[in-house]
Amino acid sequence: MSTFETLKFEVKDSICIITINRPDRLNALNRQTVQDIGEAIKQAKNDKSVSGIIITGEGPKAFVAGADIKEFMGLSGDQGKAMAWSGQEVFQSVEDCPKPVIAAINGFALGGGCELAMSCHLRVATENAKFGQPEVNLGLIPGYGGTQRLIRYIGRTKALELMMTADMLSAQQALELGLVNYVVPADNLIAKCTELLNVIKTKSPAAIASVIAAANQYDGTQKGFEGELTEFGKCFTTEDIKEGINAFIEKRKPQFAGR
Ligand code: COA
Repeated sequence: MSTFETLKFEVKDSICIITINRPDRLNALNRQTVQDIGEAIKQAKNDKSVSGIIITGEGPKAFVAGADIKEFMGLSGDQGKAMAWSGQEVFQSVEDCPKPVIAAINGFALGGGCELAMSCHLRVATENAKFGQPEVNLGLIPGYGGTQRLIRYIGRTKALELMMTADMLSAQQALELGLVNYVVPADNLIAKCTELLNVIKTKSPAAIASVIAAANQYDGTQKGFEGELTEFGKCFTTEDIKEGINAFIEKRKPQFAGR
């Protein structure tokens, strides 16, 4: 198992915890961190002993306070676009991960931090968490998928307000808007994420991967329904569906192979 310059990476009881580890920068995402997140997700995805992934930030204050603003200095338009592209690519790999990924949001989730949280499948926040896309304060816009995912999660009306005012949402507001699944006390954060992953772990991994793949094709058009058909059909080719149906008929708990 490799080590990462900017992350802690641990696997315990089949759950991989990726901790962004730049607390003195409020875990701001520099290029190395974005690259490390991509590598860590790939590693967790390929590790057969891992059933689910938690992404969190080191320290009590921040999940991630955004992209590292210092790295923006002096970029050309093309360099800015290239930087956003590498962020989008890595965050897409988080969203496309066939294993469940939960953001454990332990404080500020601003800019790229809010975007990283939105690329995870589920979000659990502490009571002190704060969410926002404050890029316009810097003369910028979200570049790691935020203009698209925020609309998907909270609707165009609120998303445009947040992106234009740079206002922050409290954890409670984020919960009410459907941006997060749960708000919990800080000392219960990882336990709540683990509890969710332990429930998901009892289901068919092949079906979970198909739920993710189908949900990721949602775009408000017929394309999403077609994606659902493909994934639904694929389920019938797995060992998991045979085991699931047999276990139901035999009135026992299924033992899924995950294929
Ligand atoms: N990029 C680079 N450094 C950052 C950072 C970021 N996105 N966010 C915080 N830091 C650094 C600060 O510069 C500071 O460094 P210093 O100790 O060398 O001065 C350190 O992290 C601690 O942050 P600080 O601002 O002192 O904490 P605070 O509690 O007063 O404020 C925030 C917290 C999150 C409100 C504030 O740090 C902030 O506004 N950060 C930028 C948020 C942002 O615009 N994100 C989108 C970027 S595109």
